[in-house]
Amino acid sequence: MNPFVISAYKAPEFFCDREKETGIIINSVTNGVNIILYSLRRMGKTGLIKNVFHELSARNNVELIYIDIYRTKNVDDFVNELANAMLRINKKVWYKRVLEFLKKFRPVLTVNPITGQLEAEIRAISEGQGPQNLDAIFQFIEQYPAKIIIAIDEFQQITEYPEPGFEAFLRSKIQFLNNVNFIYSGSNRRIITSMFQDYNRPFYQSGSTLYLDKIQEDAYAAFVKKLMERTNRIITEELVVKGLQWTESYTWFTQNYFNRIWGKGVKTITENLMREVEQEIFTEKERDFIEWRNLLPENQMSLLTAIAKENGVQKPTAKDFLTSHRLGSSSTVNSALKVLQQKEIIYFEQNAWQLYDVYMKRFLQAT
Ligand SMILES: Nc1ncnc2c1ncn2[C@@H]1O[C@H](COP(=O)(O)OP(=O)(O)OP(=O)(O)O)[C@@H](O)[C@H]1O
Ligand SMILES: [Mg+2]
Repeated sequence: MNPFVISAYKAPEFFCDREKETGIIINSVTNGVNIILYSLRRMGKTGLIKNVFHELSARNNVELIYIDIYRTKNVDDFVNELANAMLRINKKVWYKRVLEFLKKFRPVLTVNPITGQLEAEIRAISEGQGPQNLDAIFQFIEQYPAKIIIAIDEFQQITEYPEPGFEAFLRSKIQFLNNVNFIYSGSNRRIITSMFQDYNRPFYQSGSTLYLDKIQEDAYAAFVKKLMERTNRIITEELVVKGLQWTESYTWFTQNYFNRIWGKGVKTITENLMREVEQEIFTEKERDFIEWRNLLPENQMSLLTAIAKENGVQKPTAKDFLTSHRLGSSSTVNSALKVLQQKEIIYFEQNAWQLYDVYMKRFLQAT
């Protein structure tokens, strides 16, 4: 098996570092403090939550519920995700209770053909029953004789629900759950910070914020080397570091990059092999590039190319930058920046604009 995992979390031995963050989260949620976990896309939030749950699963006195609400569109969807997640806990006592409880509000129980697991489909009796059902679920949870930790991934999604006041409703229910702590996770800085830091938002200060940064280069290097050696591959430290610099230690890209290298099936990894993999990535990115060029207006295309070539830009409306890349007026650039940010193509962090897609950036730098 390729030890560089690029899909869902597998096990601690394939998971790099995050010891400090794992400790902070466990310590918080087991001591009554909710966590707001935030990072750039693909930095490793979901993996970290899974790693925390893996560690906590060894404890008997706590139940763990994970929901990803990225695809939920309304409160009914939210309730459905929650009910399904409750059924996925395979502890006998818990399962029996949940099943009995869920039957009460006439869910349609179906067997998932792929996993063979029971899944509840809570069909609200009539539209807008989601909140009542949620209320019932929370009452059930509250009476459960054990500590429960609920992770809600992509939490910002609740702000998209059409039901007015759901954020306030959810907050009002959550604050009375004495035996439950939450991990709220999201990647949209603007929405997440506004939800938890705006004085007049319902979730104002309802947890402590954990910003997930990149994994330190030396920790990542040791991890890559260890996984290579454990699977009988030879790679020098120097090459590992070169690879990490190419991917900027950005978690998803780093995992993907070394997954490709390992996948070549070569025992001794050389610089040529790494170049070969990078060329393959460029070929793929060229296709994406053509697609982008068809979809994005020229001013946006030139701006993101310029940001890539400069490897991050602090002042995109500065005269030098505008003229040397022929970007037109500063107002054109400002509106292009906004659109590209909304499309999640670029982001602003540590005082500079950057492309999300490290591979695309490398491609643009090379052409
Ligand atoms: N510490 C780690 N060590 C090794 N692989 C990791 C680590 N953290 C995350 N990964 C892997 O990197 C990829 C991206 O991580 P993950 O999906 O957790 O990021 P995310 O921040 O939740 O992304 P998104 O914003 O898209 O939800 C996944 O394949 C995951 O398994
Ligand atoms: Mg995620």
